[in-house]
Amino acid sequence: MASDTVLVIGTNLTDRDVLTRTVKDIGHPVLAVGSLQDGLALLSSLRPKAILVDLDDTEAGALDLIQQIRLESLEAPLVAVSSTNDSALAVKAVRAGACDFLVKPLLPQTLREAIKRGFAQNGGNPALSAASTSVAESDRSSHNLELLFRGSERMHAVEDIVRRAADTNVTVLINGESGVGKEMVARAIHQISGRLDKPFVKVNCASLPAELLESELFGHEKGAFTGAHRRKPGKFELAHQGTFLLDEIGEMPLSLQAKLLHVIQDGKFFSVGGTELISADVRLIAATNRNLAALVTSGQFREDLYYRLNVVTIPIPPLRTRREEIPALTQHFLSKFCLQYNREMPAISSETMRLFQEYSWPGNVRELENMIRRLVVLQSEALVQEEIALRTEKPQYDMTPHGPGLAKSAAALRGGRDLGLKDIAKKAAMAAEAAAIKDVLERVRWNRAETARLLKISYKALLYKIRQCGLDGHKTDGRGK
Ligand SMILES: Nc1ncnc2c1ncn2[C@@H]1O[C@H](COP(=O)(O)OP(=O)(O)OP(=O)(O)O)[C@@H](O)[C@H]1O
Ligand SMILES: [Mg+2]
Repeated sequence: MASDTVLVIGTNLTDRDVLTRTVKDIGHPVLAVGSLQDGLALLSSLRPKAILVDLDDTEAGALDLIQQIRLESLEAPLVAVSSTNDSALAVKAVRAGACDFLVKPLLPQTLREAIKRGFAQNGGNPALSAASTSVAESDRSSHNLELLFRGSERMHAVEDIVRRAADTNVTVLINGESGVGKEMVARAIHQISGRLDKPFVKVNCASLPAELLESELFGHEKGAFTGAHRRKPGKFELAHQGTFLLDEIGEMPLSLQAKLLHVIQDGKFFSVGGTELISADVRLIAATNRNLAALVTSGQFREDLYYRLNVVTIPIPPLRTRREEIPALTQHFLSKFCLQYNREMPAISSETMRLFQEYSWPGNVRELENMIRRLVVLQSEALVQEEIALRTEKPQYDMTPHGPGLAKSAAALRGGRDLGLKDIAKKAAMAAEAAAIKDVLERVRWNRAETARLLKISYKALLYKIRQCGLDGHKTDGRGK
């Protein structure tokens, strides 16, 4: 099992000491080393909980070494740190496998959040989850079936399908907008199925480049590629007899889709560089906020895989169509965050509740959750009310070419003024950019380095656009969602 120790790797002694202190501040034992090579050598004996790499003054080939470290220690989140906000470096670090890129000086809370997000991205290895019982984790446990399914007719209908499918082995495809609760429903299926005492393993297909994703899913043999010093089991193997959630399945590269299809058909696969077939008995759940049928039409998703996955499809309705859940969810998040941040329970006025009931919640339950988090931390209802007013004023993001959204937003863009066509086009382009940026940010849990990579713009340009589009109001702590 992994230790609780965080491994700090940094060449500069003074900076290394500062990082060491920050890690201690968040309550972890630390082991600090001066080079990536030393860090790599320690991994198998230490099994660190997380790895912090200071990119300042690192040796040549540092990013290759980071990739090796990440492969050696698939479950530990690796956070890259630098004194410069260098977008190109951030993108490279994330591509090499870092779950986040933070700029010094680091605040303890920022680091804590980055590590937590890293765990979420890495799929919450059961052993590690048990070691880090957070409020977020307890949220995912059994007592929440009530909150998840019993608050509205529409979710009650979801529960009905979940219960009928849960105790079979069929593959389930969970579909729904970002933040609706797809992962919670997947965990509910695991909980209700007979596999509860076996692992629930998640892999986010959008969070890793293709080569790393293949190794993450299927494992690799010793010597399969540079840096593969020993055999590593993949997540499929780790999920044996349990449930395996393939999150953001729409982002899986086509080359891996073929391999996945074989696994679903035969229950067997080769690890990277392996010659022996490995079998794993897993209950597969796939989740996506994309329209897989449309991806099939555009050639981005294999049709045969699509039909294999959607034996049972569970659509999760957006929050705006199940508003009756809002009061109970609000209450739940209030208690959760008051406990987490040690704050007084704020009273929610009927005016705020009315705004909550009228707002469209494009980011769904996650947006409500983050809004309540801010309310609890800042202890200001007025700020939350202002924020909703601001978000409501923004053009809505339905930019489908002939949809009512565009017509509405064209009128909204003119705002009753005599704007020239150029200005209208500029505003419309900005609204479309804002929609795309927001969509990707939510998909990758507000990881801005990853968003920049997916949108193929520099990290700096992304930060500028986030500010320009007024999306920075969504930011919580650090670089996270
Ligand atoms: N019914 C619920 N009760 C309590 N918390 C909920 C509920 N539904 C969703 N949440 C919370 O909202 C957030 C989003 O839920 P979840 O991660 O399951 O959504 P998702 O659809 O997988 O989102 P994404 O598409 O962004 O991955 C999580 O923090 C989750 O704990
Ligand atoms: Mg999810």
